[in-house]
Amino acid sequence: MFLEERRTNILIMLIQQQRVTVNNLAKLFAVSKETIRSDLNFLEKNKSITRCHGGAVLNKKQLLTNFQNGMLTNINESLKKKSMEKYMSENKKGKVCILGSFNVDIVSHVARLPKPGETLISKSCSFGPGGKGANQAVAASNAMSQVHFITKVGNDQFNSFAYEHLESSNINALTIYISDSEPTGNAVIYVSDDDGENIIAINQGANITLTDEEVINVYDRIVDANVLLVQLENNISAIRKAMSWAHDNNVRVILNPAPFTSEVKVLLPYVDIITPNQTEASLLSGIEVVDLVSARKVAEIISAMGPECVIITLGSKGGLLLEKGAFSDIPVYPALVVDTTGAGDAFNGAFAAALSRGDAIKNACNYAAAFSSLAVELNGASNMPRNESVNERIRTANPSKI
Ligand code: ATP
Ligand code: RIB
Repeated sequence: MFLEERRTNILIMLIQQQRVTVNNLAKLFAVSKETIRSDLNFLEKNKSITRCHGGAVLNKKQLLTNFQNGMLTNINESLKKKSMEKYMSENKKGKVCILGSFNVDIVSHVARLPKPGETLISKSCSFGPGGKGANQAVAASNAMSQVHFITKVGNDQFNSFAYEHLESSNINALTIYISDSEPTGNAVIYVSDDDGENIIAINQGANITLTDEEVINVYDRIVDANVLLVQLENNISAIRKAMSWAHDNNVRVILNPAPFTSEVKVLLPYVDIITPNQTEASLLSGIEVVDLVSARKVAEIISAMGPECVIITLGSKGGLLLEKGAFSDIPVYPALVVDTTGAGDAFNGAFAAALSRGDAIKNACNYAAAFSSLAVELNGASNMPRNESVNERIRTANPSKI
């Protein structure tokens, strides 16, 4: 076994056992005690472990910080990744329950978005995983919360695609129902090379066939979470049930009212935090959001409908927060935009994760803004950044306000 692999294995053993001894390690790896001492001295340099008499103990907090900051160099990459992912998922703090959609996204890249009646030649077309619920679940997981994701797909060739995607993600727990009557949901998406903007038409398919019984089956998961996050791609009756239980059990409820439907009004009594984008805020309030002044007015109108906190996301302009009658701007982090599809999902998933681990709303918005600025640099709605890159962006970038 090479030095790098041995050191990684020592770290993995420490993660599993908290403590190791020089004697045991020397026997296990069939090397001299001197070799093991030099391995432990190396690992101690970045403070991930602390040497103690005859061996070493794990310095959990520091190990996590080092990993997030990319400081565990010279350790076998894939082994490190595997053990750290396991370690980190066990150490995720907040619990987020997400009830939402899974869609197959059919994405066509065009030079610019077509006008009504116009036919354009697309540059490329691909299939990928999507759906606001699934994207937000991946985002919240990458943002280091324990996620339970509840969704429904069709009894068709696309459900294995859903399973593959969701099972290979960082999501901790899944409840996937299968509809016998409706196909897996899908979305036809055009992404413009011009500015990364998009237009989307979704077919909800199986997503709108969630039954009361299926929601009752996950009651424990809903009331056990710190935060419930929902969107509007499922049937309103199912969403309402989940929200009302969360509300009755002091689980914080975030509603991302996307895509907009006027049926949303019946959900408002159960909402703590609502997160419309510019279009949804305009449709919900009946007043068009065109600038900061109108955004403030609209936020007040929406707040008067029930939610104690309103967050209006404004794309590349950042966002606006209205919390307990006070406004604050949500900064925008500079990004090299590739594809803005799923920017709102990135924001919502990351925001829910930050909130679930106890961040104040304003701080959670800042984290979500940094997270989503990285998401728009990636192709595909479900492609989400990792927590360590987000922390790096917060440390190094200079965000601007509206
Ligand atoms: P979508 O429907 O495409 O998923 P959305 O309309 O719901 O997105 P937006 O308001 O466009 O959501 O964006 C959500 C957040 O993502 C913004 O508040 C901002 O923090 C971030 N974001 C979006 N576009 C950019 C950009 N060009 N540069 C940096 N951050 C961005
Ligand atoms: O927000 C982006 C998502 O909206 C896409 O993945 C698409 O499936 C639609 O649900």
